[in-house]
Amino acid sequence: MVRIPGHFQAHFSICNENTMDVFHGFLHKNLQGWYNPKLLNLKQDDNSVSADYQVSYKGFLSKLLGLGTKGSDSTTRTVSIRYQYPHYATALESVSSLYLMRLPIGPTETKSFSLMFLKLPLPQWLLTGPVARMLEKVILNSIFLKFLHQDVEMMESEQRNYSIDPHRNYVEVNPAIIALQRVIVGQYEHLEGSHSSSLEAAKESSIPPSQEVSNGMLV
Ligand SMILES: [Fe+2]
Repeated sequence: MVRIPGHFQAHFSICNENTMDVFHGFLHKNLQGWYNPKLLNLKQDDNSVSADYQVSYKGFLSKLLGLGTKGSDSTTRTVSIRYQYPHYATALESVSSLYLMRLPIGPTETKSFSLMFLKLPLPQWLLTGPVARMLEKVILNSIFLKFLHQDVEMMESEQRNYSIDPHRNYVEVNPAIIALQRVIVGQYEHLEGSHSSSLEAAKESSIPPSQEVSNGMLV
C-alpha cells in the first residue's frame, strides 16, 4: 500500500475532472504511463459517475506491475473509475486499486489523500515490516509523486485560466467528464435550491405575528 497526499491550488471540480480523465495519458508520456485509452462504459446518476476505460501500458510501469505478456512488455487492460461525491475509487482489474479521498477547502484550494494498493510481483518478505515502509517511500517518490506533480501543474494551470476568464470558450469531448460536470452542477443547483427555500422559510418564520411590514421594513 502506498499513501499519497495531495494539495492543489484549484477548485475540487477541476481536480475531479483530472481524475476522471484517462485521456490525459500524453501528460505523463515521459513517465511511460498509459496510452490509447477508449471509453467502454459510462453510467451516471444524481450523485455518482462510473466509467470503464480500456487502456494500454508498456515500458517501466507495465514491467513493475507485471502486466506484460510473454515476449512483449505491453498489454491492454480495463480501468474502472467510480466517482461518489467528492471521492473516487479506481481499479486496474486485479492489479491495483486506488481510494482517493477529496477535501474541498475553498474556491481555489483542494486537498486529497489517496491509498494505492498494488499487487507487486515481489517476495512476501519485502512486503511486510520496515522493508515495506522503505519500499513504499521509494515507490511514492520515484513514481507516484512524479505523476502527481505533473497533474498538479495541469490542474493549477486550468484554475488560473478559469480565474482569468470564467466564460472562456471551452469544449469538453470526454463523455465521462461531461457526466461528471452534470453531477457536480446538479448537486450545486440542488443545494442552492434547498438553501434559498430554507432561507425563505426562516425569513417567514422570523417575523412575529404581532409585527407589521411596511415598505419592506419591520415596524
Ligand atoms: Fe494524471
